[in-house]
Amino acid sequence: MAKPKIFVTRDQPGPSLTKLGNLYDVTINPEDRPVSKEELIAAVKEVDGIIACVGDRIDGEVMDASGGFLKAVCNAIVGFDNVDLKAATERGIYVTNTPGVLTETVADLAFGLLLTLSRRIAEADRFIRTGRWRGWGPKQFLGFDVHGKTLGILGLGRIGLAVAKRAKGFDMTVLYFDVFRNTEMEKKLGLHFVPLNEVLSRSDFVSVHVPLIPQTKHMISTNELDLMKESAFLINSSRGPVVDEKALITALKAGKICGAGLDVWDPEPPSVDNPLLTMDNVVTLPHIASASVETRTRMIEMAIDNLKAILNGRIPPNLVNKEVISVRPLKVS
Ligand code: DGY
Repeated sequence: MAKPKIFVTRDQPGPSLTKLGNLYDVTINPEDRPVSKEELIAAVKEVDGIIACVGDRIDGEVMDASGGFLKAVCNAIVGFDNVDLKAATERGIYVTNTPGVLTETVADLAFGLLLTLSRRIAEADRFIRTGRWRGWGPKQFLGFDVHGKTLGILGLGRIGLAVAKRAKGFDMTVLYFDVFRNTEMEKKLGLHFVPLNEVLSRSDFVSVHVPLIPQTKHMISTNELDLMKESAFLINSSRGPVVDEKALITALKAGKICGAGLDVWDPEPPSVDNPLLTMDNVVTLPHIASASVETRTRMIEMAIDNLKAILNGRIPPNLVNKEVISVRPLKVS
């Protein structure tokens, strides 16, 4: 019997994909860039499963291009805004993600952005590398303290919580806003639940940790940036479209906030003439928050575990579109 066909949109670290090749007929995008829509449509013909990543737009058209073979879209990422869940559910296609495994790694990076911004680390690094340092000076690269300041967290899910824990190690006051209140963690970590406006107006650092859904698109725009202190920093390691980039550029140019740390963009990659790329008070990263060897290796392992479960007729451990079970029932794992 022919092996099930799998298309993997990006090559991955670790030995997992090689092992996957022993079980299935696996094709991996040979390019080190996201596949275009046309390439995706051509690549998924008669595939049973897709292992997908950030930047892949898996919509109904792509799903149909499999010719009715597609059963699983397994993201090797925690986000799932790259997949049209409704279209998948209607077609009986199971969609999975990798929750939990990248929490601490993303929180490390978000906190790294916070420190880099406030202490001007990237700027100072550029300064010395370009031969401009003439010796120590008491007024050089004066930044702002982190310890003892106020951190505002938007979205107290797993990652927001992990960032809050790091902030407590720096004796920070932590405010948060979420649609769900977590009184247990408020007590345990001394967090303060306050309305969104108050998080924005009282915080020295605002770190965004919400998923991208229609309600969070441009959640931070002109009005929200206007509420922030002129001395405050915005950090986004969630999804680019959560922050209205045009409004952010205007706010930074007008000195409405002090700086921004961005791991995510809208679109990705940003155009080379995006003004954010030339601002000294903006730290720019190419969507690397989960990029540690340990975490990325574990993420692809999880995606493969989900894929194997589905192709073996079992409900996968990390199912995103739970309604699909009633459309195409599988056995409980
Ligand atoms: C995710 O997993 O959704 C991240 O953004 C990719 O690192």
